[in-house]
Amino acid sequence: MILRKLLFTFHIRNNCTRGFSIVHPKVVQSISLLNQNFPRDDYTNVTEKIISHLGQNLHLQEGHPINIVTQRVLNYFYASFKNSRGNPQFSMYNNLCPIVTTAQNFDSLLIPTNHVSRSKSDCYYINQQHLLRAHMTSHQSELMKSGLDNFLMVGDVYRRDEIDRTHYPVFHQIDGVRLRSKNQLFPNDNDLDIFELGDYTENIGSQDKQACHTLEAVKLMEFELKSTLLGVAKSIFGEDFKYRWVDTYFPFTQPSWELEVFYEGMWMEVLGCGIMKQAILTNAGITNKVGWAFGLGVERISMCLYKIPDIRLFWSKDSGFLNQFKNQEVNAKITYRPISQYPQCINDISFWLPNDKEYCENDFYDLVRTIGGDRIEQVTLKDDFLHPKTGRRSHCYRIIYRHMERTLKQEEVNLIHKKIEKEAAKQLFVNIR
Ligand code: PHE
Repeated sequence: MILRKLLFTFHIRNNCTRGFSIVHPKVVQSISLLNQNFPRDDYTNVTEKIISHLGQNLHLQEGHPINIVTQRVLNYFYASFKNSRGNPQFSMYNNLCPIVTTAQNFDSLLIPTNHVSRSKSDCYYINQQHLLRAHMTSHQSELMKSGLDNFLMVGDVYRRDEIDRTHYPVFHQIDGVRLRSKNQLFPNDNDLDIFELGDYTENIGSQDKQACHTLEAVKLMEFELKSTLLGVAKSIFGEDFKYRWVDTYFPFTQPSWELEVFYEGMWMEVLGCGIMKQAILTNAGITNKVGWAFGLGVERISMCLYKIPDIRLFWSKDSGFLNQFKNQEVNAKITYRPISQYPQCINDISFWLPNDKEYCENDFYDLVRTIGGDRIEQVTLKDDFLHPKTGRRSHCYRIIYRHMERTLKQEEVNLIHKKIEKEAAKQLFVNIR
């Protein structure tokens, strides 16, 4: 597939003064992303480094491990859900714009206005109304409104997070939705219904079910949801892997579960799912159906499947990485062979937090990432110290530097480290110790 040309830039525009008469130049600041202009405001926190991932569309690059895993999930749905004429019931959307409104990312999914997931420290905001989508679920409601009952969506999602081997601020998700009417769910039994009779405006419900649903409908939906997702996992990992279902909470599903897969000695969460909140369907104009939905992390699955040890590798342009997956059959059994192991360089940084300003750890992580780029393997808070007399707080972070493709020299690392110190002092108002 041809990659869309990258048409985004990150710039600040100043209103120019015409001719020679200087009339109080008014500064208009805007960001141009994927050919659209957005005014900046005090919500803006996207960085140039993050923006450079927009439009790369790893999921559309033929032969990329993200694309191969997507293809395998899609094949499973095509083969498992067919209509009476033998055509696939599910359709796949792979080019939905990653720039969304807060209405799409949160409101349409009933995420409360004070929910932590809306905070500036968790999301990449373009301005108060727009952000880089934090999950593919952002598009759920609009696709239902367009009349779809069975659909999948794949794309890049953006989250501010810690830094380690399995976390990167940009990753890929596949979301899916299936809506079912009473007749589809209980074709042979007219006595069974999907909705509980009576007044259920006060939708309290329980972890078992929402008040408006019948238990029969919910149990049948749960069965179909879990067996579908386990089917997907088995079609990828084979019959022999260890997994467990864990009860969880999402504002947009009830009940909700996570599927965890045992990988290299630890339980790794690979997907979230649940019975869709009925109000989301009602708001989309659907009154006669119930739905299930899921969202799975493509990198996580791909790491387990191919034994890819570090999430940064997915962004590598190195042919040593890419060629291991290119021109292979989609179900080919591939085990990633490390190109080579370059040594780590470890440097610590300690500073006093500002007294009179708010300090947010994720701001520091972003700053480190912006300056160090992909040479940063890990940043961990090593020490959080409160001075007993002055009441001042100090943080010590360990920064592990490692390049994926060459040996880093200590002098080079020292230069980056110095720059991080300088910029942290300047931008985050900390005092280097
Ligand atoms: N959006 C959720 C996440 O990103 C996953 C999810 C999707 C859960 C749909 C339930 C239903 O973690």
